[in-house]
Amino acid sequence: MPSTKNLPLLLIMIIIIMATSSTLLPSLTEEQNQIAAKIIDAMISGGSFDDWSEAFLATNDEINGPILNSTLFLPKNSVEGINATSPQVASYHIVPQCLDFSDISLMKPFSRLPTLLSGNSIVLTNNSASGFALDSVLISEPDLFVSSSIVIHRIASPFNFSRYGGGNM
Ligand SMILES: *[C@@H]1O[C@H](CO)[C@@H](O)[C@H](O)[C@H]1NC(C)=O
Ligand SMILES: *[C@@H]1O[C@H](CO)[C@@H](O)[C@H](O)[C@H]1NC(C)=O
Ligand SMILES: *[C@@H]1O[C@H](CO)[C@@H](O)[C@H](O)[C@H]1NC(C)=O
Ligand SMILES: *[C@@H]1O[C@H](CO)[C@@H](O)[C@H](O)[C@H]1NC(C)=O
Repeated sequence: MPSTKNLPLLLIMIIIIMATSSTLLPSLTEEQNQIAAKIIDAMISGGSFDDWSEAFLATNDEINGPILNSTLFLPKNSVEGINATSPQVASYHIVPQCLDFSDISLMKPFSRLPTLLSGNSIVLTNNSASGFALDSVLISEPDLFVSSSIVIHRIASPFNFSRYGGGNM
């Protein structure tokens, strides 16, 4: 029978576990991982961020087979040092949940969205209506594309997972 004097410690441990697990990706099935790999391959084969949306939509279409419920953050401009042909960069711009802007706008500052880049999540840095930002990047065109299973939001510039992805910003 645990003594009550350990109760505070137990509560702290539960809180730590909850805080940590909220940034972890709910594990994907084998099939979902395969779809994710197919989407990433198609996106990075294009060469530029402009090519991402078409590749994402073409590989994530129920006409062509099973789809991954997901949200793509599509950079408007490129930036020196963040390469559209990098699988890590592409993976970090996809959240395997279907989140339209009304879902995201309910999030509290500093909450995190786990991405397809293992262990890396996007953080909400500003939830004001005029400056809504993730990883300090403005969402310039929310809900650019919305269906029942996938969403695309345009963002002003690419996310930088080296800076924000690991949770120690
Ligand atoms: C995708 O989301 C829809 C509802 O938004 C749900 O009915 C469906 O089961 C989900 N599919 C997968 C593969 O999770
Ligand atoms: C982007 O990555 C590709 C493949 O790794 C490489 O060939 C290309 O030079 C890179 N471009 C820049 C600007 O770093
Ligand atoms: C959020 O964005 C608004 C509008 O750009 C700005 O006025 C505000 O200072 C920002 N808040 C934070 C915490 O950066
Ligand atoms: C991304 O973040 C890293 C780590 O903070 C930084 O060194 C790098 O310059 C950043 N890249 C860009 C393009 O901002």
